[in-house]
Amino acid sequence: MNVLVTGAAGYIGSVVTEQLVQEWDLVVALDNLKQGHRQAVTREATFVQADLANLEELDDVIRHYQVEAVIHLAADSLVEYSMNDPKGFFRRNVIYGVNLIDTMLKHSVYKLIFSSSAAVYGEPEKIPIEENDATRPMNPYGESKLMFERLLYWYGQAYGLKSISLRYFNAAGASQRFGEDHNPETHLIPSVLRAVLGQLNEISIFGTDYPTKDGSCIRDYIHVVDIAKAHILSLKYLEKSKGSEVYNLGNGEGYSVMEVIETVRKVTDTQIRTVIHSRRPGDPAILVASSMLAKSRLGWQPEFPDLESIIESAWQWQKKHPHGYSSK
Ligand code: UFG
Repeated sequence: MNVLVTGAAGYIGSVVTEQLVQEWDLVVALDNLKQGHRQAVTREATFVQADLANLEELDDVIRHYQVEAVIHLAADSLVEYSMNDPKGFFRRNVIYGVNLIDTMLKHSVYKLIFSSSAAVYGEPEKIPIEENDATRPMNPYGESKLMFERLLYWYGQAYGLKSISLRYFNAAGASQRFGEDHNPETHLIPSVLRAVLGQLNEISIFGTDYPTKDGSCIRDYIHVVDIAKAHILSLKYLEKSKGSEVYNLGNGEGYSVMEVIETVRKVTDTQIRTVIHSRRPGDPAILVASSMLAKSRLGWQPEFPDLESIIESAWQWQKKHPHGYSSK
């Protein structure tokens, strides 16, 4: 099968592409390189620099490589930024996504895996969160992901597009070759590792007044390699499925910001200076997944469920790449 990956040079895209080339002969890795890194795309994939904003480019890629299935990860993903730039987030995450699925239909490509997010739930009604629980996004990022999921539902009903939306909880960790390198880096684990490397003086804890055990936010951290493997299983599952389906991907275990920092201390054997800061806009207090559905239907089983091994893999990568992909 010829598979196209959008956002292939991003953090999750790089690891998804690395896994895909082990299964399928032609993997086309598309990225506009505005945030992604060319070095993050494995040589075994065919790299194309293109932008989803450009319908002609998209059309060329899908036709030229005779694409049969698409994994769509290209998106803006920083929750906090989305609060000040809903316009940009809806354009890039929804409108450009529509460019993609319309071009797919034009070329009779009916299989899509979509990178969705726990952010679609907003403040959850119960923990662990199940797929049918209420979706009440509390930031434009989550709203944009939910809007695209809903589009996929209707495209499935009307045009026969088969899709799986994977709602990732907090992606973390690294494969042997590919890890997390955002600019600016806002995510908790890579930021704490930068503090360990002496690149940051301290780590801000955004809010200690949440209704949680220690007052800091709780998240469900999931290894990026486990996320990538779910894409392979989903593509295989699409062969026999119809319409649109939605799955959570998490470990079902919540860790507070303070517990994450403590685990990094333990893994790296380094003291980390912290300062208490006010809440970050758009952050829900607790997000923890039930992934029973992905386990029972897709046959997915996380290989690296414990936080320590997730952080250990991120640490190994960060030590080798202290300045990300620009490290020599
Ligand atoms: N945090 C800090 N200090 C920091 C960085 C983060 O206290 O320096 C806190 C945040 O406030 C949050 C938690 O650590 O409570 C995790 O923050 P991240 O920025 O690492 O991740 P988010 O939960 O904001 O978002 C990530 C992805 C989203 C996705 C979401 C799903 O970036 O795309 O997980 O849970 F939607």
